[in-house]
Amino acid sequence: MKKLLHIIATPRGDASSTLKVSGAFLVAFRQKHQGWTVDELDLTKEEIPSMTVKRVDGKYALLNGKDLSGEMKESWNEIVSQIERFTSADVYLISVPMWNFSIPYTLKHYMDVIIQPRYLFRYTANGPEGLLKDKKMVVITSRGGDYSSAEGKKMDFQEPYLRSAFGFVGITDITFINAEQMAYGEELQKKSIIASQEKARTLATQI
Ligand SMILES: Cc1cc2nc3c(=O)[nH]c(=O)nc-3n(C[C@H](O)[C@H](O)[C@H](O)COP(=O)(O)O)c2cc1C
Repeated sequence: MKKLLHIIATPRGDASSTLKVSGAFLVAFRQKHQGWTVDELDLTKEEIPSMTVKRVDGKYALLNGKDLSGEMKESWNEIVSQIERFTSADVYLISVPMWNFSIPYTLKHYMDVIIQPRYLFRYTANGPEGLLKDKKMVVITSRGGDYSSAEGKKMDFQEPYLRSAFGFVGITDITFINAEQMAYGEELQKKSIIASQEKARTLATQI
């Protein structure tokens, strides 16, 4: 069965602007893909393993071509189960507000846990190689400000960062829907959310 993994990085639940847009995406997606599983991973509620010294040592062991064993291997069990949950998806939906021009720490923490050598990437004589193939990703963001102008783009470290980091592991088919102007007053906020929901519905039918 095919799977969409919905990764949530806002703690705001029903009050979330981002989730209003991804909600519209999911309704249209479920309609079109009725046999699919939708797995919801709420990073603000679920416990994601910490990168302890043992786990970091494990990462360097893998980078150096060694296998994990003993306590180090055991310490990696939770990391491996998060990686398996991630890699078993065919399509990703990330719901993420902009925090300080980039992503909230919950999503960064998750990425630090799952982006691991031998599982998501490897180094070859020709440089790094992403190991994930044929995956699609939709990133729905909302922002208080507006980063759509050339000047604004210079302050947007969210979209370029996510494109680079997931591109590094082989996910290059990424579409962003950015709901901007959330702090420009109720009217503009509403208008922006409605326009983004429309884009999200259309996108969901194209996947
Ligand atoms: C900790 C924090 C940092 C934020 N930093 C930014 C920022 O750098 N730029 C911006 O435009 N909005 C910023 N915002 C506003 C949010 O991006 C905006 O309100 C967004 O719509 C929140 O999405 P949500 O309702 O789904 O949580 C910040 C909000 C919070 C709580």
